[in-house]
Amino acid sequence: MSDLPSRMPARLAPERMAALLREMPKAELHIHIEGSLEPELIFRLAARNGVPLPHPSVEALRAAYAFTDLQSFLDLYYAGAGVLRREEDFFDMAWAYFERAAADNIVHAEVFFDPQTHTARGVPTGTVVTGLEHACRRAHAEFGISSRLILCFLRHLSEEEAFAALEQALPHRSHFVGVGLDSSERGHPPEKFARVFARCRELGLRVVAHAGEEGPAAYIEGALDVLRAERIDHGVRCVESPELVRRLAATRTPLTVCPLSNVRLRVFRDLAAHNLPALLDAGLCVTVNSDDPAYFGGYVNDNFVQTFAALPGLGPAHAYVLARNSFEASFAPAADKQRWIAALDQTFARYAA
Ligand code: ADE
Ligand code: ZN
Repeated sequence: MSDLPSRMPARLAPERMAALLREMPKAELHIHIEGSLEPELIFRLAARNGVPLPHPSVEALRAAYAFTDLQSFLDLYYAGAGVLRREEDFFDMAWAYFERAAADNIVHAEVFFDPQTHTARGVPTGTVVTGLEHACRRAHAEFGISSRLILCFLRHLSEEEAFAALEQALPHRSHFVGVGLDSSERGHPPEKFARVFARCRELGLRVVAHAGEEGPAAYIEGALDVLRAERIDHGVRCVESPELVRRLAATRTPLTVCPLSNVRLRVFRDLAAHNLPALLDAGLCVTVNSDDPAYFGGYVNDNFVQTFAALPGLGPAHAYVLARNSFEASFAPAADKQRWIAALDQTFARYAA
């Protein structure tokens, strides 16, 4: 593997490997902030806002998190977001995420939010963005975590509705760096959103898109060719097209992979069956992320530790490449990337001793 630092541990015992994975500085590039809403916070916000909940207790709600596919998850995810009403609700949700991020040694986070989920209940986009942005600023001040917000369009809705969401978000343009595409993938190809993404590019917004999670490799090609996505969220089904894998490798188009999500949504049978090693072997710019940590059983360090434990072929060099890729693939300034990579090198040098 290229770009490895000069002082690297060759191999580590499992507990020491897990410690390195936890300790290494990293960026998270695929986290839906509404997917960080833990059941305890759902109940607290429901009580605060007088919102009735269908589940009688935190335990009953958590027990309902037995998903069979993406849609079965999305139904609960949108219902859970229904407790978010006021600016402080969005702040509290994002702040809880940043506290977890700090504990996981995340130094930079690019955070998705779904404004259409909230405007449908009459919550203005400004309420959402202002609450989230306040938490981003405080995370920088208290933890030194840098962050960016990325507005996602819901692909099960129409392009016209995406244009309306963009219009409502434009007064807050300075608070988000880019746009993404999420929600139900099958039957909603990227081509459906060609014009709204063209407009976003004209506005100078960065572009990412979910593709190749449940949908076919052709959706990844559509995201690249039609939306001009700079990163692909998930993208694990790229392996169904060797030509596409070669293209992604040659262009160093990042894939933001979410192993625990893929298992919970039955994209892979278990972590041992995940294709992360194949993606790394193909030379792709892969990163590890949590997606919707409150629903999928873990935050970013849980994803790293559990995935490495399940795939014994993965070792320190893979960990280094994944963390380094997360910085390379981010929309952060070059000087920040260099600083984080220097800190990453220092962490690995300590483990080489
Ligand atoms: N929204 C939140 N999580 C998602 C996922 N894993 N795929 C598509 N849309 C999502
Ligand atoms: Zn996602």
